Amino acid sequence: MVKVNDNYLKLPGSYLFSTIARKVNAYAAAHPDKRIIRLGIGDVTQPLAPAIISALHTAVDEMADAATFRGYAPDLGYEFLRSAIAENDYKARGCGIEADEIFVSDGAKCDSGNIQEIFSVDNKIAVCDPVYPVYVDTNVMAGRAGSYDPATETWSDVIYMPCTADTDFAPMLPKETPDLIYLCFPNNPTGSAVTKSRLQEWVDYANKVGAVIIYDAAYEAYISEEGIPHSIYECEGARTCAIELHSFSKNAGFTGVRLGYTVVPKELKVGDVSLHALWARRHGTKYNGAPYIVQRAGEAVYSKEGKEQLKKQVAYYMNNAAYILEGLKSAGYTVSGGVNAPYIWLKAPNGMTSWEFFDDLLENANVVGTPGSGFGPSGETYFRLTAFGSYENTVEAIERIKKL
Ligand code: MLT
Repeated sequence: MVKVNDNYLKLPGSYLFSTIARKVNAYAAAHPDKRIIRLGIGDVTQPLAPAIISALHTAVDEMADAATFRGYAPDLGYEFLRSAIAENDYKARGCGIEADEIFVSDGAKCDSGNIQEIFSVDNKIAVCDPVYPVYVDTNVMAGRAGSYDPATETWSDVIYMPCTADTDFAPMLPKETPDLIYLCFPNNPTGSAVTKSRLQEWVDYANKVGAVIIYDAAYEAYISEEGIPHSIYECEGARTCAIELHSFSKNAGFTGVRLGYTVVPKELKVGDVSLHALWARRHGTKYNGAPYIVQRAGEAVYSKEGKEQLKKQVAYYMNNAAYILEGLKSAGYTVSGGVNAPYIWLKAPNGMTSWEFFDDLLENANVVGTPGSGFGPSGETYFRLTAFGSYENTVEAIERIKKL
């Protein structure tokens, strides 16, 4: 008789943002008169930039003509997009990443979940705590996480690297040696960032112990301070130990359009096995590529107009971040993040747990945020707000929170 993958049965509850959506929908149905402001999931609200819309229109018209129609995309993505990425995101920053080391996909969430497939199930993973839940849940699904302890909300075979106020919400090198290390900077959920010299320590460590870093750079466009790396390949030696994930969701508003990419350098090897070759095999077998239309939209992100328009869009969200940060600080909250990232990380007031504060905020301010404990045990008593709302909603949400 058929059997299911019982690793799935080990997963407690549902995906964090699905749980939140269910709770919010139930509240909204019971209170149709309330205007709920959603600063929970990091979903953008501003329309696509004009340069992107124009590229989409042109590409749609091309699909209407047999002479310019496109079918399946090339395995790694269209050359025009991979070259634009290599030039703008890497060579312009002094990182020697070539177009053929870039794999275009439909977003960083899928890639961050799928990348573990090319590694043995015997590998031990290390994650920050709190952490973007996809990294852990997908390793659970693969059977790499061991068993779940509901009391500590941890997995027996996962190395947790606490990121607390004492460490400026950055991880310390783990005592136990991991095989795979997930890092995300600027960080989701805490909004913290690390300097290039701190990141260099991780690269040196991974090269020394023979680990691979899976580096999620989804929020790099939000970096506002000097000395914070936009890519792990700014660090020396990263080509032999790091895979980097990128999203177009946050820098260009593609959450509903879907586009991302993963960089696997050719020098990255385990023994004599090339990880580039393995990921290429996986990509070619399981994936048919992001749509041509969307890849043309991605190319427009790197055009002169696109860059100018997106700089303004990022500034718009970061203005929200500053408003949240200052507003909550002035109301006596302990807050961090929001300077190099669109997330603000705050301590729940009056000794409340993360979920108690979630309920309090939903019921009494009609504002939705994300409970810190949903990202891991060290997130307990913390709470995340996103800067991706409209300015008007952000202002109103903060005014409502101040009145609590
Ligand atoms: C988040 O809110 O953490 C992210 O938007 C979720 C995602 O990017 O998948």
